[in-house]
Amino acid sequence: MANTHQVSFKLNGKAVEVSVEPRELLIHTLREKLAHTGPHIGCETSHCGACTVDMDGMSVKSCTVLTVQCAGSELLTVEGLEQGGVLHALQQAFHEEHGLQCGYCTPGMITRAYRLLKENPNPTEQDIRYGIAGNLCRCTGYQNIVKAVQSAARKLASTPASA
Ligand code: FES
Ligand code: FES
Repeated sequence: MANTHQVSFKLNGKAVEVSVEPRELLIHTLREKLAHTGPHIGCETSHCGACTVDMDGMSVKSCTVLTVQCAGSELLTVEGLEQGGVLHALQQAFHEEHGLQCGYCTPGMITRAYRLLKENPNPTEQDIRYGIAGNLCRCTGYQNIVKAVQSAARKLASTPASA
């Protein structure tokens, strides 16, 4: 390919380097070149948030980021949340509170909730609903997702070292 760029960044703590055209979207690089297929694609208009990843401490919709913009960044995807075989409190809470059905929105939803709880460790129900408003779910009606985030927030508050 004539116009490719080498781009280096950290993905879930590991250094990676990819060769991309300037137009390549981060979601495609993650899924197709780096085998991180947790982040999903649910739209072409930046609404659904299924593609949400964490980039340098912000929730970003990776369908709306060019991979060349990620040079030097620290990226976190749902694949990086579990540590040593132990689920992150949010993953455990989504399981316990039945915060997912088809699971398609779940990687983006949990990755967004991860950043939300860092922004606001003790959110109200309204804070949570507003905080995940960039993430659409067709299955759950959101109620159990809110419960899962509340449950994870309580657990993280009692064990701050695991946050
Ligand atoms: S795929 Fe829908 S917002 Fe990214
Ligand atoms: S669990 Fe199916 S879209 Fe959310």
